[in-house]
Amino acid sequence: LFHTPEEVPEQGAPDCAIAIDVLRATTTMAAALAAGAEAIQVFSDIDDLLTTSETWPTDKRLRAGERGGGKVEGCDLGNSPLDHSPERSGGKRLFMSTTNGTRCLKRIEHAPTVITAALTTRQAVVDFVLSQQPETVWIVGSGWEGTYSLEDTVCAGAIIHGIIAATGQTFKDLAGNDAAIAAVSLYLQWQDQLLDLMHYASHGQRLLRLNNEADLQYCAQLDVLNIVPRQHELGVLGL
Ligand code: MLT
Repeated sequence: LFHTPEEVPEQGAPDCAIAIDVLRATTTMAAALAAGAEAIQVFSDIDDLLTTSETWPTDKRLRAGERGGGKVEGCDLGNSPLDHSPERSGGKRLFMSTTNGTRCLKRIEHAPTVITAALTTRQAVVDFVLSQQPETVWIVGSGWEGTYSLEDTVCAGAIIHGIIAATGQTFKDLAGNDAAIAAVSLYLQWQDQLLDLMHYASHGQRLLRLNNEADLQYCAQLDVLNIVPRQHELGVLGL
């Protein structure tokens, strides 16, 4: 478990890499695909996003750009999971760039299997990992500009807890993995008050200042979508 993309080693790759940005990029990706978006193409750079999306038919694309929690000028959408409905997103390609979430994905994009996770898709992600049985898994939190985030860590803990519980393991089997033990402990402490934890998290506070309480409520839901967004070609995610 890495708390930020910056912690990820430059060399080597796991069998399976999981990117988490509960508030809000990976929650929004899952919401968009669940609403019927055809695919999500991620960009670190907004100018690249705008140029590449120009080549796509206007009625088949949505451009989503977020910086500092707000919508980027020139984009159709910011980064709210509540923006996506079958009417708005169905059949469209989402061209997306966010402050930390898309950067996290870029950092792990060369692993043979790359998926995204959120609290909303936690059980589906656990089932996916159990069915694939990868030997090495990296779980990478997006954090905020290189710093630790509570919401990504609690989601990582929820995933690890799901995996060890399903395979009859305990904390003892995580011995030596300090980050994983801490993340599972965080999840066990907060599992019934995930929305409260979102409110106390620094990025949750930032989103509240921007009047995004409804987003926090959406992002704090556990196991409501039975899908796993997966990278099918470099930088492009689908189901
Ligand atoms: C990010 O990528 O940093 C986040 O998803 C920011 C946000 O909440 O929009």
